[in-house]
Amino acid sequence: MTTTNPENITPDQPPPRERRNFLAEGAAIVIGGIVGLFPVAVGLGVIFDPLFRPKKKGPGGKVIGGGFVRIASLDSLPENGQPQQFPVIADRLDAWNYFPDERVGSVFLRRVGENEVQAFNSVCPHLGCLVSYARGKNYFHCPCHNSAFQVDGEKIDNPDKPNPSPRALDSLEVDEEKLTQTGEIWVKFQNFYTGKKEKVAK
Ligand code: FES
Repeated sequence: MTTTNPENITPDQPPPRERRNFLAEGAAIVIGGIVGLFPVAVGLGVIFDPLFRPKKKGPGGKVIGGGFVRIASLDSLPENGQPQQFPVIADRLDAWNYFPDERVGSVFLRRVGENEVQAFNSVCPHLGCLVSYARGKNYFHCPCHNSAFQVDGEKIDNPDKPNPSPRALDSLEVDEEKLTQTGEIWVKFQNFYTGKKEKVAK
């Protein structure tokens, strides 16, 4: 086999076969590396996207997880203190998706003064069923294991009917300033761990 001495190559001669093979192999490695890295880069982007993505807000600027949510106007509550149940509609954001205007829970509201409202999460603190308000009997009742609560959310302890709930209904903060200034009821909607004596927000 004969080899070409590079020093004998003139500029208008093609490069020798060995050099051509070397260049072709080098190019194939580079292109293969780029093509192989592309799916890895896409995968990493998908994995880390939620960590770096700025939190979106919907038209109402409502993002669940600590913010106040508008529930109703004060006019919609009876003056006699009877609780009314309302859905909580808010924008929800999980690690991957944004859900505008979703039902994320429900609350009971009751008027307790000219500009004072009490709010309770409808979830039973025992194991998480939804309580309802027994209108004729003036108390909250959970159908799952018979927890019962007074109209102000306190537990009803009846020796004949043990109440399995470890605590009172979970009260929620109402934005008093907005209520006084606008007559609108904004509630800091939160869910709490069930089955615990203490009220611990999730
Ligand atoms: S979940 Fe309400 S009493 Fe058990």
